Amino acid sequence: MNLLIYSLLLMREHEHSLKKIELRNVSKLFPRSDGGKNVVLDDISFSINQGDFVTVLGESGGGKTTLLNLLAGLVSPTSGTVFVDGIPVKDIDPSRAMLFQQPVLLPWLSVKENVEYGCRIRGDLDRLDYRVHQFLEMMGLSCFENAKPSSLSLGMAQRVCLARALVGRADMLLLDEPFSSLDTFTQSHIQEELINIWLSEGFTAVFVTHDVNEAILMGNKVLILGGYPGRVWGFYEIDESYPRNVDCERFKSHRKEILSSFKKAHVGNRRFLS
Ligand SMILES: Nc1ncnc2c1ncn2[C@@H]1O[C@H](COP(=O)(O)OP(=O)(O)O)[C@@H](O)[C@H]1O
Ligand SMILES: [Mg+2]
Repeated sequence: MNLLIYSLLLMREHEHSLKKIELRNVSKLFPRSDGGKNVVLDDISFSINQGDFVTVLGESGGGKTTLLNLLAGLVSPTSGTVFVDGIPVKDIDPSRAMLFQQPVLLPWLSVKENVEYGCRIRGDLDRLDYRVHQFLEMMGLSCFENAKPSSLSLGMAQRVCLARALVGRADMLLLDEPFSSLDTFTQSHIQEELINIWLSEGFTAVFVTHDVNEAILMGNKVLILGGYPGRVWGFYEIDESYPRNVDCERFKSHRKEILSSFKKAHVGNRRFLS
């Protein structure tokens, strides 16, 4: 059965309780080896509503992973505050799940055991078998539930990580260029799957990418992070239905507008002047 139809037929198991994430005047500095400070993010303010799929577009070294780490509670801002539903983020929380560039799975556990691991540790056992089965089926991984991670392709391993986050009832998925090491065909397939699951499940997603097409294909909002120090140069709403087509005129016009924001971000950028 087509994944979209299948996903829409499934009852939404978990109503997401997260309402709003807000960054207020957030800056992040790291010490440099010469004793100076590397200002990675400078006075960033924006908010994300429940159910948004925000793609964060920026160049390498521009602070995208740092931004996700701040949202996850893995690092603290040097100044300013990250709020989730009005409460400052102080620590990691299972309601915010992170997917990394490379899949992170425990190699001695099977696919099923990996997917349920976090829930077992937290004692979240309510219909766990059913939930695991539901999401493994949604990801097309039912036949691999007893397989070990070493026997999976990269794309399959990323799907396992996605299933793990969804089984853990994450309200917010933080995705750090999760498909950048996949081949073009797998990438395009898994992008479409993720959007279908998001449409059916209603979680909030913050998806980091350096690929302008991927940002516009997936996000209902695109945040441009650029320049040095890193600032928000635009926050565009992409009010287009899915699946999107890179060749259509509206897509091209979003692309043009977003690329012109990057040009602005790089005016006076010392990395590019030196
Ligand atoms: N823990 C850290 N300590 C020192 N510098 C860091 C640390 N994490 C990131 N940085 C620096 O912050 C900058 C942005 O890194 P990062 O957020 O990983 O960028 P991106 O994900 O956009 O490639 C880089 O210059 C990097 O060296
Ligand atoms: Mg990164």
